[in-house]
Amino acid sequence: MKKIIHVTQPYLPPVAEFIPYLEQIWDSKILTNGGPMHQQLEAALCEYLGVEHIALFANGTLALVTALQALRITGEVITTPYSFVATTHSLLWNGIKPVFVDIDPITLNLDPTKIEAAITPQTTAILPVHVYGNPCDVEAIQKIAELYNLRVIYDAAHAFGVQCHCGSLLQHGDLSVLSFHATKVFNTFEGGAIVCPDAKTKQRIDYLKNFGFADEVTVVAPGINGKMSEINAAFGLLQLQHIDEVLTVRQEVDRQYRQGLDGITGIRCVGTSGQKRANYGYFAILVGSDYPMSRDALYQRLKDHGIYARRYFYPLISDFPMYRGLPSAARANLPVASAIAEQVICLPIYPHLSDDDLKRIIFIIANPTLEPKRGD
Ligand SMILES: Cc1ncc(COP(=O)(O)O)c(C=O)c1O
Repeated sequence: MKKIIHVTQPYLPPVAEFIPYLEQIWDSKILTNGGPMHQQLEAALCEYLGVEHIALFANGTLALVTALQALRITGEVITTPYSFVATTHSLLWNGIKPVFVDIDPITLNLDPTKIEAAITPQTTAILPVHVYGNPCDVEAIQKIAELYNLRVIYDAAHAFGVQCHCGSLLQHGDLSVLSFHATKVFNTFEGGAIVCPDAKTKQRIDYLKNFGFADEVTVVAPGINGKMSEINAAFGLLQLQHIDEVLTVRQEVDRQYRQGLDGITGIRCVGTSGQKRANYGYFAILVGSDYPMSRDALYQRLKDHGIYARRYFYPLISDFPMYRGLPSAARANLPVASAIAEQVICLPIYPHLSDDDLKRIIFIIANPTLEPKRGD
């Protein structure tokens, strides 16, 4: 059977290491509702990530939906079309109108120079994404937010552990939202979190993720069930023991890709600019018109060799049916994002990607007309 290499493979610690956590859950008989594992993981993540408060969630999408609720965001929100669709779905689930703004051609994040022109009297917030863990221009975005009295919620689903020039990237904006989905650098099978700067906001988020209950008989808001279970939290505690080795191995895969793909006409590796510490969650390349074949032809060629790369983020969110009718979704409004979406391929990157597989992927890209032999 042909070996398939997916764009990612979840990191799983040895199963024997998980048993003691399971035994603790079996002993306590507490399965959810903010139990001991949940509390321990919140504390451990605050320390590891260097942030003040974290509220854990069942997944990143519920965390995004709740973050918008927590800050009572309404009206219009400025966001990027170059992301996973959950970013803007969280707006629609809150009855908010997304307003798409184009991206910067280098960072592939929301272009701050284009934000002001999109602000209207209905605008209440900005929802940027740190795409592939590359930091947004947080200072420029903050300046605009202060000038127009807007809130900023970062979709930081890709930014676990990323440090920018001034420490944790997750400290910026009013809130940051993480995803711990199986495909992410740090996974709890499914999971997510909101990072927030003060205890009062964390309290409101904790009410909202538990149906709005403040105590046994008091419901203070129309909350949702967004809680992370004890089993996911326990797995997160175990994953944290291994995260540094995971990041080190990912860094080495990233280094080898950059070295191997350097100088290939028509291939640009998306950088890790603006990061004091990256997490190497994605390895994105852009296939230019000077490469001997189209992006889609290269994508298919890789697939024919069992390498299931992904075209993140193609199509743009703004091209999906529920968004395409918005005036801001017009291609003419989003020329950079439209061009990048036609060029991008994310290559496989994960801790157990073998040297042989890595070399074969590089060979296929570097030699568009040659077939890889065993060992290439
Ligand atoms: C940018 C971005 N936002 C939000 C999400 C949603 O997170 P989750 O899958 O944990 O709901 C993801 C990924 O899954 C993502 O990549």
